[in-house]
Amino acid sequence: MKHSFEAIADKLGAEGYAVVAGPLTSGEVTAVLAELGDLVPQTTGELAYDIRAHAGFAHVRDTRSPHALRPHTEAPGQDVPPRYLALHCRVQATCGGGQTLLADAPRFLATLDEDLHRLAHSHPVHWPSYQEHPGATGVRKPVVDRTAAGTVIRMSSTLLATGAYSEALDEPGGAAPPLGPGGLALARRTVDFMGTHGTSVLLPEDALLIWDNHRMFHARTGFSDTRRRLTRYWIADRTGTGPRTGRAHPPQD
Ligand SMILES: [Fe+2]
Repeated sequence: MKHSFEAIADKLGAEGYAVVAGPLTSGEVTAVLAELGDLVPQTTGELAYDIRAHAGFAHVRDTRSPHALRPHTEAPGQDVPPRYLALHCRVQATCGGGQTLLADAPRFLATLDEDLHRLAHSHPVHWPSYQEHPGATGVRKPVVDRTAAGTVIRMSSTLLATGAYSEALDEPGGAAPPLGPGGLALARRTVDFMGTHGTSVLLPEDALLIWDNHRMFHARTGFSDTRRRLTRYWIADRTGTGPRTGRAHPPQD
């Protein structure tokens, strides 16, 4: 037995993320994740998405550091974004980069002054669907969306700063920041908070990282070792049975 599901659930509830030590095979990973919920199709329709450093992609999303990603939550344009994300490391970068950064959004919200706090809770943002889902229209929700099933926090510091998920569109003629100057301030504060309070994880090969995508912001440091390869999973709460790990983050924000 390489893991205890109870230990993983406890860690997810307490800290919003859990590292499951390897080596784990793909089959062992999907068995662990099946205890959390249901795997759901990602941007390509696949349940297991292969993350590679595609040629030409280095500067597409965030341009200042190759392959870096700024703080965000996954798939904010979905009516219910995937509850958990998981990364199974297959080949880790040896350049020191490519680290996954995680930050606790309720803790971040607690640092905001009254104006930004109100903005995050009560002003809807249009979160577009990803380009790969052209038929979907996205959703209009505040950053902090209190639902009957629990609080869902959405973030894309790039969208709030530039009006698009891709920073390449941060040029004259790009979309306006959807929450105006306040949203821009919120985006900057998110980036700063990730820098000061984020947890950096350089996942060992064949180990697994899981986090609560309704609670945690994630980001990625840039990297140059293009052998890096991970498999990503999106996991939804199991309909009708509710989250197996419960909702350990009360609406303290
Ligand atoms: Fe992501």
